[in-house]
Amino acid sequence: MTTNQNYDPDYISAFFDDYAEREWERFERGAASRVNFLVHRHHLQRFVKSGDHVLEAGAGPGRFTIELARIGAMVTVVDISPVQINLNRQKVGEAGCESSVTGRHVADIVDLSRFPDACFDATVCYGGGLSYAMDRAGDALAELVRVTKPGGYILVSVMSLVGSAGALLSTFPDLIEEFGRDTLDREIATGDLFGPTSRGHRCHMYRWSELEALLQSQNCEIVGRSASNFLVINNEDAVTAFERDPELYEWFLRWEIEYCQEPGAIDGGTHMIAVVRRGGS
Ligand SMILES: C[S@@+](CC[C@H](N)C(=O)[O-])C[C@H]1O[C@@H](n2cnc3c(N)ncnc32)[C@H](O)[C@@H]1O
Repeated sequence: MTTNQNYDPDYISAFFDDYAEREWERFERGAASRVNFLVHRHHLQRFVKSGDHVLEAGAGPGRFTIELARIGAMVTVVDISPVQINLNRQKVGEAGCESSVTGRHVADIVDLSRFPDACFDATVCYGGGLSYAMDRAGDALAELVRVTKPGGYILVSVMSLVGSAGALLSTFPDLIEEFGRDTLDREIATGDLFGPTSRGHRCHMYRWSELEALLQSQNCEIVGRSASNFLVINNEDAVTAFERDPELYEWFLRWEIEYCQEPGAIDGGTHMIAVVRRGGS
Protein backbone atom coordinates (compact mmCIF):
# COMPACT_ATOMS: atom_id res chain seq x y z
CA MET A 1 0.00 0.00 0.00
CA THR A 2 1.40 3.45 -0.85
CA THR A 3 1.02 6.46 1.35
CA ASN A 4 -1.86 8.93 1.28
CA GLN A 5 -0.04 11.41 3.48
CA ASN A 6 0.98 14.73 1.98
CA TYR A 7 4.65 15.65 1.99
CA ASP A 8 5.34 18.79 4.03
CA PRO A 9 8.90 20.09 3.35
CA ASP A 10 8.70 22.84 6.00
CA TYR A 11 7.82 20.28 8.65
CA ILE A 12 10.75 17.99 7.70
CA SER A 13 13.23 20.86 7.53
CA ALA A 14 12.14 22.15 10.97
CA PHE A 15 12.20 18.62 12.43
CA PHE A 16 15.82 18.03 11.40
CA ASP A 17 16.87 21.56 12.40
CA ASP A 18 15.58 20.77 15.86
CA TYR A 19 16.98 17.21 15.85
CA ALA A 20 20.41 18.70 15.14
CA GLU A 21 23.36 16.86 16.76
CA ARG A 22 21.16 13.86 17.72
CA GLU A 23 21.29 12.91 14.02
CA TRP A 24 25.08 12.52 14.25
CA GLU A 25 24.63 10.25 17.29
CA ARG A 26 22.12 8.00 15.47
CA PHE A 27 24.70 5.31 14.65
CA GLU A 28 26.15 5.24 18.16
CA ARG A 29 23.04 4.05 19.99
CA GLY A 30 23.96 0.42 20.55
CA ALA A 31 25.16 -2.60 18.59
CA ALA A 32 22.27 -2.62 16.09
CA SER A 33 22.92 1.02 15.11
CA ARG A 34 26.61 0.33 14.60
CA VAL A 35 25.82 -2.69 12.41
CA ASN A 36 23.29 -0.57 10.50
CA PHE A 37 26.07 1.92 9.70
CA LEU A 38 28.50 -0.82 8.59
CA VAL A 39 25.93 -2.49 6.29
CA HIS A 40 25.22 0.87 4.63
CA ARG A 41 28.96 1.54 4.28
CA HIS A 42 29.52 -1.89 2.73
CA HIS A 43 27.21 -1.00 -0.18
CA LEU A 44 28.86 2.41 -0.66
CA GLN A 45 32.22 0.67 -0.93
CA ARG A 46 30.74 -1.82 -3.40
CA PHE A 47 29.25 0.67 -5.83
CA VAL A 48 31.17 3.98 -5.52
CA LYS A 49 34.68 4.26 -6.97
CA SER A 50 37.55 6.58 -6.29
CA GLY A 51 37.25 9.63 -8.54
CA ASP A 52 33.43 9.44 -8.84
CA HIS A 53 31.54 12.70 -8.46
CA VAL A 54 28.69 11.78 -6.11
CA LEU A 55 25.53 13.64 -5.15
CA GLU A 56 24.71 12.89 -1.53
CA ALA A 57 21.07 13.82 -1.04
CA GLY A 58 19.77 14.15 2.52
CA ALA A 59 23.36 13.91 3.75
CA GLY A 60 22.61 15.08 7.29
CA PRO A 61 25.67 15.63 9.49
CA GLY A 62 27.92 13.66 7.15
CA ARG A 63 28.60 10.14 8.38
CA PHE A 64 28.48 8.96 4.77
CA THR A 65 29.98 12.15 3.33
CA ILE A 66 33.09 11.18 5.27
CA GLU A 67 32.93 7.57 4.03
CA LEU A 68 32.50 8.73 0.43
CA ALA A 69 35.54 10.98 0.85
CA ARG A 70 37.52 8.03 2.23
CA ILE A 71 36.62 6.01 -0.89
CA GLY A 72 38.14 8.85 -2.91
CA ALA A 73 34.90 10.33 -4.28
CA MET A 74 34.16 14.03 -4.71
CA VAL A 75 30.86 14.84 -2.99
CA THR A 76 28.14 17.43 -3.57
CA VAL A 77 26.06 17.63 -0.41
CA VAL A 78 22.34 18.42 -0.34
CA ASP A 79 20.05 18.61 2.67
CA ILE A 80 16.73 20.30 3.36
CA SER A 81 17.80 21.35 6.86
CA PRO A 82 20.18 24.34 7.21
CA VAL A 83 21.23 23.06 10.66
CA GLN A 84 22.20 19.68 9.19
CA ILE A 85 24.16 21.40 6.40
CA ASN A 86 26.15 23.34 9.02
CA LEU A 87 26.76 20.17 11.04
CA ASN A 88 27.90 18.46 7.85
CA ARG A 89 30.49 21.20 7.29
CA GLN A 90 31.67 20.89 10.91
CA LYS A 91 31.85 17.06 11.09
CA VAL A 92 33.41 16.61 7.65
CA GLY A 93 35.97 19.29 8.53
CA GLU A 94 36.78 17.58 11.85
CA ALA A 95 37.32 14.31 9.96
CA GLY A 96 39.81 16.04 7.65
CA CYS A 97 37.68 15.39 4.56
CA GLU A 98 36.56 18.90 3.58
CA SER A 99 38.69 18.97 0.41
CA SER A 100 36.47 16.18 -1.02
CA VAL A 101 33.31 18.31 -0.83
CA THR A 102 32.60 20.25 -4.02
CA GLY A 103 29.56 22.11 -2.71
CA ARG A 104 26.78 22.19 -0.11
CA HIS A 105 23.21 23.18 -0.88
CA VAL A 106 20.10 23.62 1.24
CA ALA A 107 17.70 21.96 -1.21
CA ASP A 108 14.83 19.50 -1.42
CA ILE A 109 15.32 16.17 -3.22
CA VAL A 110 11.83 16.56 -4.67
CA ASP A 111 13.22 19.43 -6.78
CA LEU A 112 16.88 19.18 -7.78
CA SER A 113 16.44 21.58 -10.72
CA ARG A 114 19.62 23.46 -9.73
CA PHE A 115 21.49 20.41 -11.13
CA PRO A 116 21.47 19.55 -14.84
CA ASP A 117 20.55 16.10 -16.14
CA ALA A 118 23.15 13.33 -15.87
CA CYS A 119 25.79 15.36 -14.01
CA PHE A 120 26.78 12.85 -11.27
CA ASP A 121 28.54 9.48 -11.59
CA ALA A 122 26.51 8.17 -8.63
CA THR A 123 23.81 9.41 -6.27
CA VAL A 124 23.36 8.40 -2.64
CA CYS A 125 20.20 9.02 -0.63
CA TYR A 126 20.70 7.11 2.61
CA GLY A 127 18.70 7.45 5.79
CA GLY A 128 15.15 7.80 4.55
CA GLY A 129 14.92 10.71 2.11
CA LEU A 130 12.26 8.76 0.22
CA SER A 131 10.52 7.86 3.49
CA TYR A 132 10.23 11.53 4.46
CA ALA A 133 9.00 12.54 0.99
CA MET A 134 5.73 10.68 1.69
CA ASP A 135 3.43 10.99 -1.38
CA ARG A 136 6.21 12.77 -3.34
CA ALA A 137 8.64 9.84 -3.11
CA GLY A 138 8.15 9.06 -6.82
CA ASP A 139 9.05 12.65 -7.75
CA ALA A 140 12.10 12.53 -5.47
CA LEU A 141 13.30 9.26 -6.97
CA ALA A 142 12.79 10.61 -10.50
CA GLU A 143 15.04 13.55 -9.59
CA LEU A 144 17.74 11.28 -8.12
CA VAL A 145 17.69 9.25 -11.34
CA ARG A 146 17.61 12.30 -13.62
CA VAL A 147 20.78 13.87 -12.19
CA THR A 148 22.71 10.56 -12.40
CA LYS A 149 24.61 9.65 -15.59
CA PRO A 150 23.26 6.74 -17.67
CA GLY A 151 24.88 3.60 -16.30
CA GLY A 152 25.50 5.31 -12.94
CA TYR A 153 24.34 3.90 -9.62
CA ILE A 154 21.67 5.34 -7.32
CA LEU A 155 21.81 4.05 -3.73
CA VAL A 156 18.82 4.65 -1.47
CA SER A 157 17.78 3.49 1.96
CA VAL A 158 14.35 3.76 3.54
CA MET A 159 12.68 2.80 6.80
CA SER A 160 11.41 -0.78 6.75
CA LEU A 161 7.91 -1.49 8.04
CA VAL A 162 8.09 -5.20 8.84
CA GLY A 163 11.56 -5.18 10.39
CA SER A 164 10.84 -2.06 12.45
CA ALA A 165 7.71 -3.75 13.83
CA GLY A 166 9.87 -6.75 14.77
CA ALA A 167 12.53 -4.58 16.39
CA LEU A 168 9.99 -2.50 18.32
CA LEU A 169 7.43 -5.15 19.25
CA SER A 170 8.27 -4.95 22.95
CA THR A 171 7.10 -1.31 22.94
CA PHE A 172 3.68 -2.20 21.48
CA PRO A 173 1.88 -2.93 24.78
CA ASP A 174 2.63 0.61 26.02
CA LEU A 175 1.69 2.11 22.64
CA ILE A 176 -1.61 0.19 22.64
CA GLU A 177 -2.37 1.44 26.13
CA GLU A 178 -1.58 5.05 25.18
CA PHE A 179 -3.04 5.24 21.65
CA GLY A 180 -5.27 2.18 21.17
CA ARG A 181 -5.00 -0.79 18.87
CA ASP A 182 -6.84 0.93 16.00
CA THR A 183 -4.04 3.49 15.70
CA LEU A 184 -1.42 0.76 15.49
CA ASP A 185 -3.52 -1.23 13.03
CA ARG A 186 -3.68 1.84 10.77
CA GLU A 187 0.08 2.41 10.93
CA ILE A 188 0.91 -1.24 10.34
CA ALA A 189 -1.48 -1.41 7.37
CA THR A 190 -0.34 1.80 5.68
CA GLY A 191 3.30 2.13 6.83
CA ASP A 192 2.56 5.77 7.60
CA LEU A 193 4.02 6.91 10.89
CA PHE A 194 2.26 10.22 11.07
CA GLY A 195 0.13 10.63 14.18
CA PRO A 196 1.06 10.99 17.85
CA THR A 197 2.85 7.61 17.95
CA SER A 198 5.50 9.06 15.63
CA ARG A 199 6.55 11.48 18.41
CA GLY A 200 7.06 13.98 15.61
CA HIS A 201 9.21 11.70 13.42
CA ARG A 202 6.78 11.54 10.48
CA CYS A 203 7.75 9.11 7.76
CA HIS A 204 6.56 6.34 5.52
CA MET A 205 7.90 2.87 6.26
CA TYR A 206 8.20 0.60 3.25
CA ARG A 207 7.57 -3.01 2.43
CA TRP A 208 10.12 -4.31 -0.11
CA SER A 209 7.29 -4.99 -2.61
CA GLU A 210 6.35 -1.31 -2.48
CA LEU A 211 9.91 -0.01 -2.79
CA GLU A 212 10.57 -2.42 -5.65
CA ALA A 213 7.49 -1.14 -7.52
CA LEU A 214 8.63 2.45 -6.98
CA LEU A 215 12.12 1.67 -8.33
CA GLN A 216 10.68 -0.21 -11.29
CA SER A 217 8.62 2.85 -12.23
CA GLN A 218 11.91 4.52 -13.28
CA ASN A 219 14.22 3.82 -16.20
CA CYS A 220 16.63 1.77 -14.14
CA GLU A 221 17.58 -1.75 -13.18
CA ILE A 222 17.74 -3.01 -9.60
CA VAL A 223 21.28 -4.32 -9.04
CA GLY A 224 21.43 -4.55 -5.26
CA ARG A 225 19.05 -4.95 -2.35
CA SER A 226 19.64 -5.55 1.30
CA ALA A 227 18.04 -5.35 4.67
CA SER A 228 19.88 -3.19 7.14
CA ASN A 229 20.15 -4.91 9.53
CA PHE A 230 18.94 -8.46 10.29
CA LEU A 231 20.81 -10.89 12.57
CA VAL A 232 21.57 -8.20 15.13
CA ILE A 233 17.93 -7.32 15.69
CA ASN A 234 16.86 -8.70 19.08
CA ASN A 235 20.39 -10.14 19.47
CA GLU A 236 22.18 -7.01 20.60
CA ASP A 237 23.74 -8.59 23.68
CA ALA A 238 25.40 -11.32 21.60
CA VAL A 239 26.67 -8.79 19.05
CA THR A 240 27.94 -6.45 21.79
CA ALA A 241 30.01 -9.40 23.04
CA PHE A 242 31.32 -10.00 19.48
CA GLU A 243 32.36 -6.34 19.29
CA ARG A 244 34.88 -6.93 22.09
CA ASP A 245 36.77 -9.39 19.85
CA PRO A 246 37.61 -7.74 16.49
CA GLU A 247 38.15 -11.08 14.72
CA LEU A 248 34.83 -12.46 15.92
CA TYR A 249 33.09 -9.22 15.00
CA GLU A 250 34.51 -9.34 11.44
CA TRP A 251 33.31 -12.93 11.19
CA PHE A 252 29.81 -11.95 12.38
CA LEU A 253 29.66 -8.96 10.01
CA ARG A 254 30.39 -11.15 7.00
CA TRP A 255 27.32 -13.27 7.79
CA GLU A 256 25.20 -10.25 8.67
CA ILE A 257 25.99 -8.59 5.33
CA GLU A 258 25.39 -11.81 3.39
CA TYR A 259 22.15 -12.73 5.16
CA CYS A 260 20.79 -9.20 4.83
CA GLN A 261 20.71 -9.79 1.05
CA GLU A 262 18.73 -13.04 1.22
CA PRO A 263 15.20 -12.68 -0.20
CA GLY A 264 13.76 -13.81 3.16
CA ALA A 265 15.61 -11.06 5.02
CA ILE A 266 15.05 -7.96 2.88
CA ASP A 267 11.96 -6.80 4.79
CA GLY A 268 13.40 -7.89 8.12
CA GLY A 269 15.71 -4.99 9.04
CA THR A 270 14.99 -1.57 10.46
CA HIS A 271 16.00 -0.17 7.04
CA MET A 272 16.22 -1.41 3.45
CA ILE A 273 18.95 -0.50 0.99
CA ALA A 274 18.39 -0.60 -2.76
CA VAL A 275 20.87 0.06 -5.56
CA VAL A 276 19.70 0.76 -9.10
CA ARG A 277 21.63 1.43 -12.30
CA ARG A 278 20.25 4.18 -14.47
CA GLY A 279 19.27 3.04 -17.94
CA GLY A 280 19.94 4.84 -21.21
CA SER A 281 23.21 5.64 -22.90
C1 LIG B 1 17.79 10.31 9.02
S1 LIG B 1 18.77 11.59 8.35
C2 LIG B 1 20.01 10.69 7.42
C3 LIG B 1 21.29 11.44 7.25
C4 LIG B 1 22.38 10.65 6.49
N1 LIG B 1 22.01 10.43 5.12
C5 LIG B 1 22.60 9.31 7.15
O1 LIG B 1 22.12 8.29 6.62
O2 LIG B 1 23.23 9.29 8.20
C6 LIG B 1 17.78 12.23 7.05
C7 LIG B 1 18.35 13.49 6.45
O3 LIG B 1 17.65 13.76 5.24
C8 LIG B 1 17.28 15.11 5.22
N2 LIG B 1 16.08 15.20 4.39
C9 LIG B 1 14.86 14.70 4.67
N3 LIG B 1 14.01 14.96 3.66
C10 LIG B 1 14.73 15.64 2.72
C11 LIG B 1 14.41 16.20 1.46
N4 LIG B 1 13.18 16.13 0.95
N5 LIG B 1 15.38 16.82 0.75
C12 LIG B 1 16.65 16.92 1.26
N6 LIG B 1 16.99 16.43 2.47
C13 LIG B 1 16.04 15.77 3.18
C14 LIG B 1 17.10 15.51 6.66
O4 LIG B 1 17.20 16.90 6.88
C15 LIG B 1 18.19 14.71 7.35
O5 LIG B 1 19.38 15.41 7.43
